[in-house]
This record gives sequence, C-alpha cells and structure tokens, in this order.
Amino acid sequence: MHVAIIMDGNGRWAAARNLARPAGHRAGARAVNTVVRAAARAGGIRTLTLYAFSAANWQRPAGEVQALFGLLRRYLMTETDRCVEESIRLNVIGRRDRLRPELARQIAHSERLTAAGTGMRLRLAVDYSSRHSLSEAGRRGGDFGAALAAVDHSSPPAPAVDLLIRTGGEQRLSDFLLFECAYAELYFTPTLWPDFDEAAFAAALEAYAARQRRFGRVSEGAVEHA
Ligand code: IPE
Ligand code: IPE
Ligand code: MG
Repeated sequence: MHVAIIMDGNGRWAAARNLARPAGHRAGARAVNTVVRAAARAGGIRTLTLYAFSAANWQRPAGEVQALFGLLRRYLMTETDRCVEESIRLNVIGRRDRLRPELARQIAHSERLTAAGTGMRLRLAVDYSSRHSLSEAGRRGGDFGAALAAVDHSSPPAPAVDLLIRTGGEQRLSDFLLFECAYAELYFTPTLWPDFDEAAFAAALEAYAARQRRFGRVSEGAVEHA
C-alpha cells in the first residue's frame, strides 16, 4: 500500500498560538517523526510519500523558505541513522537543480546510507511539482513510467497511490502526484498537521479500509443482485 500525505496547516497552527510560522514548521517536523514511526509499525504500508515543499512554495517569504530547508536538512542529518536501524529506505523526490549544493549532497548521502533498507520506503517530496514532472517526462519520451521516475529521482519507481491524506482542511491536490493519484482514495481532515498524531493516522487508515475501491467495475455483489 502506498500512502501519500499533504502535510498542511503548520502556519495556522502557529498563528493560533501567536507564534511565528517557522515554529509551526518545527512542530510539523515532530509530527513527521510520529507519523513515519506509526506508518512503519502499521504494517502493509510499503511506501509513504510526504509533501514537504512544493515548487510553488518558493513564493513564500525568504525567511520561511530558509526555515523549511533548515528543518529538512536537520531531519536528514538526525533521522538517517534511525532509518537505517529501522530498515526504512529514504528517497527525496522532486527537482534537485534548485537546491543548495550542501542539501543536495546530504540527500544523496542519506539515500546512499539507507539504500539497502528492505522495510518501508519513505519519500519526501521537495521542490516538487507534478505538472512539471509530467511535462518533463512527456518531453523525454520512451517508457512514460520510467521517464517520470527518472525526472522525480524516484528510485525505484513507486507504485500508484492508494490513499492520499490532506490535513489542514483544504480539499485540493496543490500539484501533488496528479498521475499517481489517478485512483487514490482521498481523505481530508481539518486537523492541522502538527496535531496529526498516531490516533489521527489510524483514523485515516480505518476510513480507507471502509472504502470500496471499484476501479471502474461494478461493486462486489452487484452482479448477483442485478
Ligand atoms: C504546510 O503548512 C507546510 C508547507 C507548505 C511547507 P503551511 O505552511 O502551508 O500552513 P498553513 O496552510 O499556512 O496553515
Ligand atoms: C501544499 O500546501 C504543499 C505542501 C504541503 C508542501 P500549501 O499550503 O502550499 O498549498 P496551497 O497553497 O494551500 O494550495
Ligand atoms: Mg498551507
């Protein structure tokens, strides 16, 4: 199973506490740890993709962008060893050409160290735009899935998304995994990302388990009842 999450609501979480937005992002980073752990333990989740920074997020104030990248770098520095211990394979997807060289080096380092992990695959989407990936993959030609994985630096290629979660109350995709979510079940929750804990994640998985996926076919039992 592939679960993807649009981690939204950090800014509002901070504003509600009279804190600056970066404080919300720091709280969001703690939620990342909680949910990664929960997902790895849940069993059955082979791939977890987290939207950490969209290509559109470059339009935010420079100080906030800097804070986000600082957190990402710190996350990679502190969590890589833990991923190795837990056999989690780390992969950063998205563009690399606009990242600072030291961050690009840290990403390559973390990916190399965790490459042998046989457990869950943890993909962090950074400077990611699905429309950019799709148009670039189309331009390259050849096998589309392979081209898309290459453009995204997704190695190995990830399967389609089964469950897409968005926290923070908005009900939109914000240019995330448009192709990969073709048949994903969508789960929107008003819970702000820093408040999204193990119980909230379990509730999302429970809601998914109750869904009936049809992929265009008639529902189970419909044939007999027709
Ligand atoms: C999500 O929280 C984190 C990123 C987009 C990087 P936001 O920062 O978008 O929080 P809100 O939507 O302003 O509350
Ligand atoms: C989407 O959240 C991007 C990430 C969670 C990284 P945004 O807060 O940037 O999305 P919009 O602007 O509300 O669509
Ligand atoms: Mg937001």
